[in-house]
Amino acid sequence: MSSTTLKIEIEKATSSKIGQVDFDNLAFGSVFTDHMLVCDFKDGAWQTPKIKPYGPLSLDPSAKVFHYGQAIFEGLKAYKSNDDSIWLFRPDENHTRMNKSCVRLQMPEIPKEIFFDGLETLLKMDKDWIKKGEGNSLYIRPFMIATESCVSASPSLEYKFMIICSPAQSYFKKGMSGVKVLFAEKYSRAANGGVGFAKCAGNYAGQFYPTHLANQEGYHQVLWTDASTHENLEEAGVMNVFFRVGDKLITAPTSDRILDGVTRKSVIEIAKDEGLDVEVRPVTVHEIIAAAKEGSLKEMFGSGTAAVISPISGFGYKGAHYDLPEIENKFADLFKKRISDIQCNKAKDKFGWRH
Ligand code: COI
Repeated sequence: MSSTTLKIEIEKATSSKIGQVDFDNLAFGSVFTDHMLVCDFKDGAWQTPKIKPYGPLSLDPSAKVFHYGQAIFEGLKAYKSNDDSIWLFRPDENHTRMNKSCVRLQMPEIPKEIFFDGLETLLKMDKDWIKKGEGNSLYIRPFMIATESCVSASPSLEYKFMIICSPAQSYFKKGMSGVKVLFAEKYSRAANGGVGFAKCAGNYAGQFYPTHLANQEGYHQVLWTDASTHENLEEAGVMNVFFRVGDKLITAPTSDRILDGVTRKSVIEIAKDEGLDVEVRPVTVHEIIAAAKEGSLKEMFGSGTAAVISPISGFGYKGAHYDLPEIENKFADLFKKRISDIQCNKAKDKFGWRH
């Protein structure tokens, strides 16, 4: 990581909460480690970062984040390997993407040393919260909010950059046999020239109502289509999406509407490394329905930091439901294994992704 020695003020928690946590039954994102990183931006500069006991913030009710949603975040994971070493997966990608979100939301970019030295120090302090073994990780949530006390609709002059960490297992409920997605016909997630590619809070809040409607029909996530025609399949609520038609792997290209997922790009690189036929191109609703009908749609799966590789078991469109077939030698299993083995230091890291 960064070789600079950034000054970080540290206040240790007087006791740890770790003994109260049931690490075998973790609901995603509901338990947090003992410490958090906080770094304020004011008077045009980032201040000394602090690591302090995890706890509530005190903010003025007029803080701009509450009124205009000037808020962005990232998601990455730390893994512990059998020799107790701790690994991050492509964290440079998260730092770069976070700064792209900063630019789009007119927020100050995060210096590399605050992101990396802050994260590394925090992880060393909370290392006991990272559990070994398949499926275990520590989900890391860096985020930034606008804190200036003023309700004028203009970019904040003050911000808080923070990192909080949550021990994680699977994102979707344990024992779920696959994610069911509903293709979007009416609502949209992102527009051309909008903020779809940025990891800003509003991109997620805007999905909650359509996702709630999808849930009522028995679907877990909405698979978003492009806002102008609703003919191209783009990404699902918390993951990018891949389709296997015959033995071809297809995914939509990133754009200003689609999140440039770190797991997504890793899947594409691994697929090429496996010699698979990969197509990164617009994927239409109609070609996927035609493939489902003729039996050539063999797999769909989502990719994401939280979702890892999540098989999709079926989809809905215009009142009809289509089930994906049960097959052997799934691409989803191959990618999940190859990515997890790199993440947990079980396999050679030929791509140089492990930190
Ligand atoms: C992630 O995979 O890190 C995400 O940001 C999805 C999240 C909204 C749970």
